[in-house]
Amino acid sequence: MARRKLLFGNWKMNKTIAESKAFAEESKKLLAFAKEKGVDIGVAPVYLSLAAVKEVNPELTVAAENCHFEDHGAFTGEIAIPMLKEIGIDWVIIGHSERRTYFAETNETCNKKLLALQAAGMTPIYCVGETLAEYEAGKTKEVVKEQVLKGLKGLSKEYMEQVVIAYEPVWSIGTGKNASKEIAQDICGFIRELVRGEFGDVADKVRILYGGSVKPENVHDYLLQKDVDGALVGGASLKVESFKQLIENI
Ligand code: 13P
Repeated sequence: MARRKLLFGNWKMNKTIAESKAFAEESKKLLAFAKEKGVDIGVAPVYLSLAAVKEVNPELTVAAENCHFEDHGAFTGEIAIPMLKEIGIDWVIIGHSERRTYFAETNETCNKKLLALQAAGMTPIYCVGETLAEYEAGKTKEVVKEQVLKGLKGLSKEYMEQVVIAYEPVWSIGTGKNASKEIAQDICGFIRELVRGEFGDVADKVRILYGGSVKPENVHDYLLQKDVDGALVGGASLKVESFKQLIENI
């Protein structure tokens, strides 16, 4: 069965609650448009806006941008999985490069979070990708391999079916220097084969996204690649009109 295309907006630390609600209202039309096109869509707002977005548009897939792996405890400033579940959130972005760079996220902590999400039956978007220095040193595949294997360690084959992986080269995020479609295909295909090596043919069901300076003008090229099943979009996902263009151009 063909993998459904997935377009996901990572809002990062943008939009107040009021702004998020305004987008959520507009997203009703976006969702209808995406359904027509046979594309799945979702957004990841800041924690504070999650409940509000869900309330305004309960049909929209909404992800948290992070979570803690413990259910509760002395972790000041963190948010636990049961708290997300309580407000109807069942998707979480794990291991975004900004979390890895600024908040000391490691492959090991990502793995704990992924195992906790598996136990909770929730869907992760697990992010991997090399830095500019690693890219220039020709270490992309070495780095991505370690992120994929360590991050996904111990997950079940059954669960892998719902896991989404995003390849986001760090040097392409927010820089306007998007990776070529050939690079995106090469690394997304590489990730699929790594998943196959560990988990078998469920690899054909895993959705792998490209992320990094995806815009309405270039989204189509990525989506034409056989192992690229969608996009994780930052800047271009913030405005309704631009999100609509992304769906249109897929
Ligand atoms: P940009 O689309 O703004 O480059 O961000 C990509 C990203 O980090 C999505 O998670």
